[in-house]
Amino acid sequence: MSTHRIPARWRLADHTISREDLAALADWLGSDPWLAQGKLVADLERRWSERIGVRGSVMVNSGSSANLAALVAAGRAKPGRLRVGAPAVTWATTISPALLLGHEVVLFDVDRTTLGIDSAAACAAMERGEIDVLFVVHLLGLNALTPDLVATAARHGVILLEDCCEAAGTRFAGAHVGTAGLAGTFSFYFGHHVATVEGGMVSSDDPEVLDGLRLLRSHGLARESEHFDRFAADHPDVDPRFLFMVPGLNLRSTDLNALLGLRQLDRLDGTIRRRNANLAHFLRVLPPYLWRDYATEGASSFTLPLIAEDADGARRARSAAERLGIEARPIVAGNLLAQPFVRTSDRVRAAAPTPVADHVHRHGFYIGNGPHVTAEMLDALGAALG
Ligand SMILES: Cc1ncc(COP(=O)(O)O)c(C=O)c1O
Repeated sequence: MSTHRIPARWRLADHTISREDLAALADWLGSDPWLAQGKLVADLERRWSERIGVRGSVMVNSGSSANLAALVAAGRAKPGRLRVGAPAVTWATTISPALLLGHEVVLFDVDRTTLGIDSAAACAAMERGEIDVLFVVHLLGLNALTPDLVATAARHGVILLEDCCEAAGTRFAGAHVGTAGLAGTFSFYFGHHVATVEGGMVSSDDPEVLDGLRLLRSHGLARESEHFDRFAADHPDVDPRFLFMVPGLNLRSTDLNALLGLRQLDRLDGTIRRRNANLAHFLRVLPPYLWRDYATEGASSFTLPLIAEDADGARRARSAAERLGIEARPIVAGNLLAQPFVRTSDRVRAAAPTPVADHVHRHGFYIGNGPHVTAEMLDALGAALG
């Protein structure tokens, strides 16, 4: 075992924001710029949309806000109490917007090769008319879409949303994830492929969805809308500058954050290549007592999963990581069915037992990937795992 080759700490995440980014930010601040949401946010939205191939994107202040906004958009398209399907293994804020909005959540087991929603089970539920909105999650940057999921959702009028908060750069059938359904959401939090300190994006091909998202993001104000002239004409008794069309929030980000995002967009392809090379190397050094059969086609690796076949393997892997001083954590939030906010809710149910999600919860953890992880570190990990 060669612990000496592991740097002091193999962190879960490292700065995606470089010293050069910070210097550029300081220069820009020195030019006395507009700091709130302005031209740079609009630039980042335009470049993000071009990159992933959608009509438009709306920058918000986090991936969680993006998920909330996407679900509000789904609710406008399909009013009433919705049954929102989602995978059991994901981050809490994939489903908490549904609970906050008064909807129901149906959790599905996950597929062991993608760690995404079990496609056959979700399709069967859509066929039976049990789901109104399907929130697919591309966990750890592994594509979770299948041709069946997309076709079945379309056939049964199920609104497809994609949580791509861990999946900037992931592709399905040649297209960027986040473009297959009504909306795709992204997180620009620390350690993600693009980091703007805090930040997120909602992307969509639907002009009315985009318009609604801009209103929601900024207090519900008419002046955010393409239909401003009509709204103003329809409501002559209200000052059009302060005309509130829909219940809104303030989900805005700032030009300060967008400047960091724009600089990282220039490096994103390199970032993805590096993370994917690390994932490939990682899977080569893993011993057979850990899962290695992930569907990596189209992936944009976020972090590195260690999921053991059994409790002994999990103990062995955890102690190897510990010996090497590698930071580890549960696979995202583990099986959400174990989380108190789910257990205490009468609006969340499991579609069926979730044996794979339970297994991931019990026997899995993840470690960091990113530019701070080198081939040498991965080799040392492989040796320690035995
Ligand atoms: C799958 C998933 N969805 C949503 C989020 C929320 O993003 P944020 O932390 O920017 O709110 C995260 C956070 O990492 C996530 O992993």
